[in-house]
Amino acid sequence: MEKIQIPNQAPSTPMPIVIAGALVKGKENYLTIGAYGVMSMQPPLVYISSMKAHFTNAGIKETGYFSINVPPAALIKETDYCGLVSGRTTDKSRIFTGFYGKEKHAPMIQECPVNAVCKVVKTVELPNNEVFIGEVVEYYVDTPCLTDNIPDPKKIDPLLLAGHSYRKLGGIAGTAFSAGKSLMKK
Ligand SMILES: Cc1cc2nc3c(=O)[nH]c(=O)nc-3n(C[C@H](O)[C@H](O)[C@H](O)COP(=O)(O)O)c2cc1C
Repeated sequence: MEKIQIPNQAPSTPMPIVIAGALVKGKENYLTIGAYGVMSMQPPLVYISSMKAHFTNAGIKETGYFSINVPPAALIKETDYCGLVSGRTTDKSRIFTGFYGKEKHAPMIQECPVNAVCKVVKTVELPNNEVFIGEVVEYYVDTPCLTDNIPDPKKIDPLLLAGHSYRKLGGIAGTAFSAGKSLMKK
């Protein structure tokens, strides 16, 4: 297969879309994030990379907490909206029904089937972004989205971002930690 070199950028893979929530001066604010990822399973650490100018960053730094909410494809308009307008000029607190866990640290979104409260354990400064690394301290899932007590992507129906398109998940391609076994030397 012939390859061509293209301009440097983060190699393209679909990004899972999450909505991060924070209290900014006591008010609920939400922003859409594609630069989200898992850093460690144990302890459960995740990161969001948010541009320094974003209004939400001030709240995360003020409280030391943010929430992660996984929007289903049915919430595509609300998800996109939270990524188009800033809490600095627009009140985004009523776009969703906020709820809290044990403490009023960061608002989670009732309408999203998967929610977590994250405590900031480290912040990495990049030229344009702040990367907030958070430990998941509370984790909630809508009961109908579980299969055998495990969150089920088919029921959650998350959004992925690929270029300028939102995509939905396709089907199962194989079994992890198993599909490669046939290539192991006997
Ligand atoms: C699909 C999508 C993905 C986005 N991903 C990111 C991201 O990973 N990091 C970031 O800093 N901004 C991202 N944004 C932009 C912010 O969500 C947007 O600027 C938002 O209005 C900031 O809100 P705030 O000022 O209320 O914090 C994304 C926007 C969209 C629509």
